[in-house]
Amino acid sequence: MYILVSDDISELGMEKLQAIPGASVVVKTGMSEAELVREIAEADALIVRSQTKVTAAVIEAAKNLKVIGRAGVGVDNIDVTAATKRGIIVINAPDGNTISAAEHTFAMLISMARKIPQADASIRAKKWDRKSFIGVELRGKTLAVLGLGRIGTEVAKRAQAFGMRVVGYDPFVTEERAQKLGIQKLPLEQAIEEGDFITVHTPLTKETRHMLNADAFRRMKDGVRIVNCARGGIIDEQALCEALHSGKVAGAAIDVFEQEPLAPDHPLLSAPNVVMTPHLGASTVEAQVNVAIDVAEEVGRILQGLPFRNAVNLPSLTAEQKAFLEPYLTLGERLGLFVAQWLDGPVAALEVTYGGELADQDVSFVTRTVLKGWFGYKYADEVNYVNAPFLAEQSGLTIREVKQPKSRVFTNLITLSVQSADGVHRISGTLNNGFGPRIVEIDGYTLDVAPEGKMLFTHHVDQPGMIGRIGTLLGDAGVNIAAMQVGRKESGGEAIMILSVDKMVSDDVVAKIGEVPGIRSVRAIDL
Ligand code: NAD
Ligand code: MLT
Repeated sequence: MYILVSDDISELGMEKLQAIPGASVVVKTGMSEAELVREIAEADALIVRSQTKVTAAVIEAAKNLKVIGRAGVGVDNIDVTAATKRGIIVINAPDGNTISAAEHTFAMLISMARKIPQADASIRAKKWDRKSFIGVELRGKTLAVLGLGRIGTEVAKRAQAFGMRVVGYDPFVTEERAQKLGIQKLPLEQAIEEGDFITVHTPLTKETRHMLNADAFRRMKDGVRIVNCARGGIIDEQALCEALHSGKVAGAAIDVFEQEPLAPDHPLLSAPNVVMTPHLGASTVEAQVNVAIDVAEEVGRILQGLPFRNAVNLPSLTAEQKAFLEPYLTLGERLGLFVAQWLDGPVAALEVTYGGELADQDVSFVTRTVLKGWFGYKYADEVNYVNAPFLAEQSGLTIREVKQPKSRVFTNLITLSVQSADGVHRISGTLNNGFGPRIVEIDGYTLDVAPEGKMLFTHHVDQPGMIGRIGTLLGDAGVNIAAMQVGRKESGGEAIMILSVDKMVSDDVVAKIGEVPGIRSVRAIDL
């Protein structure tokens, strides 16, 4: 297994990578995109910090890549969409640098409030100037925290210890959680208007790009102070420079920039009352060790097929959730695989209904396995949990999850309702504790079949001699029948049959069975 490390990571992380069984670890830093495109071709894993730009071209050139590991939080240097399409897992190390980034934010905030870098520069210039560096206290002031995730909440705790009132904005955090943290949750506009200090701690997304722009600065208190130790681009730098020059903003403390490294003629360098650091939020001994170890361990687990936690492009499951869902993943995948071999032609919509004890669970991973089974049949090895939803969507399938707390008979039930060219077809499966996964219903016909092995599936008129004729054709072809299940709604109506067989029924035998009078459809299915 070839692991390419394209940004420097801590020695302890390197040791963990080298300890992965069968790993050959190569460090090549400072590569251009063209060089990385060449190097990535055979790599199984790529480890980066924030310097390497993992573009669509890089991902396209990777032939064996299974995982991209980011030693840090932000993944904005990785084209996650391109990786997802190729089924490549993207992981980050979200916890390891939280405290360092929160402490750096606070160091920046206090440096700005007390003009420490400017005073330091002055005394080094052999001046004893005590008038130019009058600062402000934090006690009694309002800090507006935009983004109440890991770092935002740690910053809030530190601000409270300094006697600050903390207000916050984060559409994804509940009122209760904010209250527990002693933070008054406010709408964005109000948080911006109330802050004496405003600090941003969101990721950089379409929604947060230029969240603090000229309009936002206009709304703020005169003499507001701004901190950005999250991502360049959350603040419109042009608008910030104007607000600093006009005096609307009394100070800014900035660790991250729209373009890094900062251009030598960048207007922030000549704006008044600005404290800057070159993206140092996570630059502590502790954080670098933590993120390198976290990412190396996760990459090791992925390459060895073991459970992992921090995927950016997969839903995360706790060990408990995973243990509970594991057998349902098998059932879901087999149901998807069955549908792929059963239904012809274009399929417009899939509804997956989760009944009984499944209704209380996060089942999105089970839906992914249904799609993995289905589209894996079509595209073979190219499909995994990561890209199955993308491939389904690309084929025009709309997917809906429905939950029904009570199932009629079963303690748990998964039903796939599929809108195909000839109408809606349904297949249901359950997990029977004593017997494992079972198919219990197809198009309204009740059955009890293990979804495994090779099968022949027929839909036919319920008339004497059908089973005998099919049996004879299989016998003539040397196909041994191991088990049989028939489902019908009424005598003399229509019926379905699943035969478990010892070897796959060939296309010509399937065609001959299809010609038997009364046969509506016949499929050879391999689960
Ligand atoms: P996190 O995921 O724990 O928290 C981010 C929070 O932002 C979440 O609570 C989320 O709900 C919220 N959010 C998302 N979209 C939002 C929106 N439109 N409006 C308001 N809130 C929104 O992440 P974290 O670990 O706290 O990291 C926060 C930021 O700090 C990230 O941008 C990360 O890349 C950056 N970071 C920078 C450094 C550095 O060296 N300067 C170090 C670590 C992290
Ligand atoms: C992060 O997102 O973790 C930080 O920006 C730190 C880094 O540069 O890795």
